[in-house]
Parts: sequence; structure tokens; C-alpha cells
Amino acid sequence: MSAMQPTYLHDYQPPAYRVTHTELKFDLSSSATRVTARLHVERHPAHQDAGALPLVLNGEQLTLKRIAVDGEELEADEYAQDDATLTVHRVPESFLLDTEVEIDPAANTALSGLYQSSGMFCTQCEAEGFRRITFYPDRPDVMATFSTTVIGDRATLPVLLSNGNPVESGELPDDRHFVTWEDPHPKPSYLFALVAGDLKKVEDRFTTQSGRDVTLQVWVEEENLSKTDHAMASLKRAMKWDEETYGREYDLDLFMIVAVNDFNMGAMENKGLNIFNSAAVLTHPHTATDAAFQRVESIVAHEYFHNWSGNRVTCRDWFQLSLKEGFTVFRDQSFSADTNSAPVKRIEDVSMFRTAQFAEDAGPTAHPIRPDHYIEIGNFYTLTIYEKGAEVVRMLRNLLGWELFRRGSDLYFERLDGQAATIEDFVGCMSEVSGLDLTQFMHWYSQAGTPEIDAHGEYDYAKSEYHLTLRQRTAPTPGQPDKVALHIPIRMGLVGTKSGQDLKMTVDGESVGTDTVIHLREYEQHFVFTDLAEAPVPSLLRGFSAPVKLRFPYGREDLAFLLQHDSDGFNRWDAGQRLAMLALEDLIAAHRNGVEKVMDVRVVEAFRTLLTGETDDKAVLAEMLTLPSEAYIAEQQPVVDVDAIHAARTFVKQSLAYALRDEFMAVYRANQLDAPYAPEPQQIAARSLKNVALSYLVAIEDEEALSLAQAQFDADHNMTDVRSALTLLTHSSRNDLADPALRAFGEKWSHDPLVMDQWFSIQVTRPQADALDRVKFLMEHPKFSLKNPNKVRALIGAFASNRVNFHRIDGAGYRLLSDVVIELNKLNPEIAARLVTPLTRWQRFDEARQELMKAELERIRAEDLSPNVYEVIEKALA
Ligand code: ARG
Ligand code: ZN
Repeated sequence: MSAMQPTYLHDYQPPAYRVTHTELKFDLSSSATRVTARLHVERHPAHQDAGALPLVLNGEQLTLKRIAVDGEELEADEYAQDDATLTVHRVPESFLLDTEVEIDPAANTALSGLYQSSGMFCTQCEAEGFRRITFYPDRPDVMATFSTTVIGDRATLPVLLSNGNPVESGELPDDRHFVTWEDPHPKPSYLFALVAGDLKKVEDRFTTQSGRDVTLQVWVEEENLSKTDHAMASLKRAMKWDEETYGREYDLDLFMIVAVNDFNMGAMENKGLNIFNSAAVLTHPHTATDAAFQRVESIVAHEYFHNWSGNRVTCRDWFQLSLKEGFTVFRDQSFSADTNSAPVKRIEDVSMFRTAQFAEDAGPTAHPIRPDHYIEIGNFYTLTIYEKGAEVVRMLRNLLGWELFRRGSDLYFERLDGQAATIEDFVGCMSEVSGLDLTQFMHWYSQAGTPEIDAHGEYDYAKSEYHLTLRQRTAPTPGQPDKVALHIPIRMGLVGTKSGQDLKMTVDGESVGTDTVIHLREYEQHFVFTDLAEAPVPSLLRGFSAPVKLRFPYGREDLAFLLQHDSDGFNRWDAGQRLAMLALEDLIAAHRNGVEKVMDVRVVEAFRTLLTGETDDKAVLAEMLTLPSEAYIAEQQPVVDVDAIHAARTFVKQSLAYALRDEFMAVYRANQLDAPYAPEPQQIAARSLKNVALSYLVAIEDEEALSLAQAQFDADHNMTDVRSALTLLTHSSRNDLADPALRAFGEKWSHDPLVMDQWFSIQVTRPQADALDRVKFLMEHPKFSLKNPNKVRALIGAFASNRVNFHRIDGAGYRLLSDVVIELNKLNPEIAARLVTPLTRWQRFDEARQELMKAELERIRAEDLSPNVYEVIEKALA
């Protein structure tokens, strides 16, 4: 089947024809929408001297009603159609192409192209959805201005939106009306958007630094009007930040955000008309947690930032996806760091990265930041492209320093404005402004897998020298057996064991200060620090200065020391995580060997110090008190033993709670807030600290703690506290407390889909053995639907993250997941391909589980698969 053939980066050719202007007319109706298109087409200059070139357009699931070139209807033998393309055999150098097609939005459950969600029409075109709307050269290097007329019923579709500015509107016969939109900025088809529905808006204004007056609108269903404040405020902050930080200004008079309930991803940066998953835009203190508020802020900013990093400068082809996504994630991370607690933002991002991206990089779907082939580009919206891409941009920022990096960014936006660019263009600008040779650095974009660094250090008392040896190695990944040495910047300090202070460092006779970057470029390198007054403990990879695994044979005393004294907040946190990991590893071994578990007192004492000491950053403290997750612990194990990990982590948590009950209780009580809820850093910090403390106390099912959790739930002050309390009760063994609370919550919020998502997730992530039965039961719940991606993620996705239950040794968890994947393969291939991920990680488990997981993959493979699922399954079973 042709859809299963890979596309290769090295096959890239400029398009034979380009479109300079696109006129579209949509006559909307549920199952028979008419799309009339007039394309202004001309031969691409790169193909000027070629002979007669056919015009090949993409098009899927379109019923062609009419086709004409320069007003002449084509005869049947003048063009050819298959299930993915339309070819016109002979066309002039420049011409008008008219087509008319019929499409069926109501039948579109894949949510790619034009579809319906809660009665409204909306689109998702990235990456290749536009070809389900009309015949078009659907590739990002074809950029045109658009003029779009949307026609719909006045009563059911009072609001008709598209990109750019509204230029005309009016009434039509049969109670229909129309609005015409014009987008003056040339754009690729993946940035096209249309929304039509019964929507209400909130409106605000923003004046740009050059004085352009911009109208800002957030469009939602009427019942959600009270949930838009935070998104609007976040948008204004993001607009200002991008002006101040990157000198980037908005370029239209109108900027719109629309919330839709059925959406495959978080949101989409369509020019002037961003479309959001309602979960990524709606917030209210009673329905959204602090984490949700922060997520909304960062996604609103992310999509807004794409207006420059993505839209004004777009990608030449989809292999360059990280050009816009990695850079834009880096920009949104910096924005969130500036707006909230910077150290906590870094800790959260790195925790997630080291758990999920490392797992991706170690699995069968590992790919470079710039892949060299794909079957289905929809499978490459990954943590590697986004998050590892952002880490690489961060390394560039650190290598150049902010000022040069900003100059490189200015050059990039200026030189490539209005163009479809490559990763070489971006890195080239950085190299040009700085004079740095980034040749070796470029391997970060083409080499998959996580580099592992083995570090060893020795202090020579006689010479007052510290010798540091670093070795790098990247394990083979599919298709890449041999790895080159990468350029790895390692930010570090040497902390004096006597003084507890960062020591002044001298390398090669040159003083480098108390915090420096050493550059590992070879497989093995040796660094000598001279004139050291005392023996140090090294603090390596400060701030996670490169996306690598770094091993150093730290003793527990060293880690306890760094936890107290490291001047780098990130590494203080990391020292605590490493210390906890050493204890957890002992306990995992004890569990496996059936010997009694003994708690490491050094961890208890470290926690006591944290709990009773002074703190100026409660948010960081809350992170320090959080044990590595089961998923993160699993990443560190050669063979994952889910039960031993769960038992060990529970044991540590309970031991800490027994030993430090009063301390946790004091922290809980000291961090109660009376003030009205606000999603601001100080309050968020207090709530997270309080709720972490409560989680320890409930872990030992302390009666007082259970009643505090119950009271916190009953007080109903804000969703962060309510959800936290409900989760603790539900994940305890006390069904007598959990059941009534769950019932009350479910009844109270049955009308609110985003709250019901949380209600589903809380139940199916409980460690008790009934979790799987609950999933089955809840799949029949009237508020559940396989057609809604948020519901699938909230119930099935959440269950797959419930490690002890998903990995049940009877295989019932795997079976449940594969049943859903098989169903979703027909309905929504993109979501199906994502959902199957946990099964693809089978190599990491014991043999019994490996066999069970592979059997489910084989069962999926026997189906008639979408390209999305096919590609993932073939890699997983290769
Ligand atoms: N460009 C969008 C974003 O960053 C994601 C769109 C992904 N779409 C998809 N169908 N995979 O934020
Ligand atoms: Zn993005």
C-alpha cells in the first residue's frame, strides 16, 4: 500500500508549482459541505526549464464535483485521480485552477481536516489535514495569501471565522449568511483555519510597541465565558514578553483563540486564529488546578510565539518540524520561567524530560530531532522533536550567551521572514553572529539516543589538583548502530568540602571562576583543576546543561552534602533525587530478594533538615520533598520490576511519614491559605508544599491526616486542594471515605467535561487491584466517549500510567489497551498511535510481561491498520 511507503529527507525537491493566492468558499453542512477553490498557480522558478510538468495535488476523502483550468472544464482524460492525489497532465506556466469538492465533516472522527465538535465546525490542518478539505499542494514550502468565504446557517452558526481580517459579510437566501476573511500574510496550508458555530466571545485590546492596536478575542461556548480570564491575561503577557525579549511584534489587527472540545493535541497556531483544546484554554479556580492554570499559560504563549517561530518563518518540509517546535518550546519555557518560579519550572521540565523523553530515546521509536524518514508525520509530534529540540536550542543559547543568541534570532527572523526554512538556516545564523564553529554541534540534530556520560574525579592532596575524567557514549538506536561523539557543554562547579562554598577554579593556568562550562567533544577527555585550596565535591551538569545521563560515583555523604551546599538550585534538588534513588535501589533489591526492608536514615535526616529548615522558596522545597516517580525509577532499572518499584517507593514514603509525622503535620498546617484563590507563584508554592506534606501523612493512613484530607475536600476552596484531597482519599485503602467523595464530586460536576476528565483519571490511577475493573465500568459511563481524545487520555491513557495495574501479570491491562487501540485505529489513527506507546516499551520488562505485550502488539498488527498505527507497530516488533 502506497500510504505505508516512507518519505525520505534526502528526496526533498522544491515544488514544481507554487500557489500565490488561494480563494476558498465553504458552504457548510454537516454531511455535505461544498468547498470551492480557486488557486492562482505558477511554475516554480527552480523548474523553469523543465519540459511539461504535470500538476500533482494532494487530496484525500474528497468527492470531486468540478475541475477547470483558466475557466475551461477539464475532460476526463486530462486529469487522473487516486485515493491520495489529483494529477492534471498538462498545465500552462501560470494559470487559475478551479475545483469544487464535497466533504463530510460529520463523518470525520479522525479530527484532521474539517470536522464537527459539539455542534460547531472547526479545522485541524497541521500536518497534512488540508488535503482533506480541498485539492492542494499540501506542503509547508508552498505559501499563499488566502481569501476565505464561509457560508452557514444564521441560526445554528452565527459565528463564522477564518484567518486574517473580516472584510465582508451579509445575508443569503434560506436563512444563511456569509463572512469573507482575508489573510494578507502568505502562509502554508497547514496554517489555514475555519471555525463556525454558536460561540460567544470575550474581547480585550493590546497595543504593540510600535503602536498597532490589536483586538484580542477568546471564543467559547456560552457556559464557558467565566473561564477565559486567565487565557486572555496570559495572551497579553506573552505578547508583551515577546516584544521585550525577542523584539517580536504581532502583525495583524485581530488575534483570536477558539476553544473546542474535541481536539487531538493541545492547540494549533493557525495564523490569527489559534484553535485550542478546551483543556488548554479554560480555567476557573473551582474547575482547574494550579498545574492546569500554568499549562494554559504556557500553551497560550507557545501558540502565540509561533506567530514568528513557525508562521512568519515556517518549515521547508516536515523533517524540519523541530525548527519551529524546539525553538518555540524553548521560548515558552523561558516565558514561564520569567513569569513563575524559574527553578521550579526547570525542575518540572527536566523531571518530565528525563522520564518520558529518555524512555522514548531508549525505545523502538527513537528518532533524531531531525528524522531522515517517516511513514506518517503525525507520529513525529514527539517529546524528542519538541522537548529535546528545546534542550538543543537552550544549549545554543548557553554556548552563545543571551546577547549573541538574540542577535542570531534577529538575523534568522529578518533573513528568513516569509520563507520556509531549514535547521541549517537557524544554526547558520547562530554561527554567523558568534563566529562559533557549530559543525560538531549539528550532530545533535541527526543522532538519536541519549548520550551517557561516565564521570570520575580524584583530588590530589599533594598537588592541590582535581582531576576529572569524562567519557561519553550513545547506545545504538534503530537504524543508527554507530554513534559519533557529540559536543556536550557541561556546566559545573567544585564545592569545597570544608567551606561548603564553590571554589575558584583554574584550568590550564586560567581562572574560570566558581561556575564554568567545560566542553566534552571527544569520547574521553581529562580536565585538571589546579590550585584548589580544599578537596571538592563536584557539582556537574548544573541546570541540566545538556540532555544527557550523567553518572558519577557519588557517595551518600556527598549527596547529602550537595543537597545542603550546592549553590545551583537545580543540582541541590538533583542531589536529593540521587540520594533517594540510592535508597530506593537498595529497597528494590531487598524486595526482590525477599529480605526485610530497612530505611536509610540519611534520607530521613535529609528530609528532616528540609522540613525544619528555613526556606525562601516553598515551591522548590515541595519539589525536593517529592520522591522520584515510579516511571522515573523504572527508567534507571536494567529490567523494570513494577511491583518492586511500587513497594520500595511506598516503603520510603511511609517510612518518612512515620519518622517525620509531626514535621509534615507542621508544614501542612503552616501552609493553609485564607486568601481568595489566585494562580500566582506564592500561593501555588504554598499549596503544593501543603499537599505534598498531606500526601505523606495519608500514605500511612493516619486518622488525623485522613480527616484533614476529608475536610480539605469538603471545604471546596479550589480545585487544586479538592483534587489533591480526592486523589489521596481515592488512592488510599479507605473506600468508605473515597466512595462518597467520588460520588459527590461526580454528581456535582457531571455537566463539566473537563472536570469529569479529572474524575475519570483519579479513579483509574489508584494502586488498588480494582483499577482495571473501574476502567471497564467507566468506559460505559454516559460521559465517556472514545471519540473524544480528552476522554481517551483521561481514562485509558491515565490507566496506562498506573504502573502496577497496567502491568498486571495476567496481561489484562495490556489486553484492555490493545482493544481500545484496535477500536481507535478506525476512528482516530493519530490518537490510536499515541495510545499504543506503553506496549512498544516491552523490551524493558521481564520475560513473562514481554511475551504478553508482544502478543497484544501482534494482535493489533493483524488488523487493517492506519499508516499511523502501522508505523509504530512495525517499529515496536522490528
Ligand atoms: N503545531 C501545534 C503545536 O505546537 C501542534 C499541532 C500538531 N498537530 C497534529 N495533528 N499532530 O503546538
Ligand atoms: Zn508548537
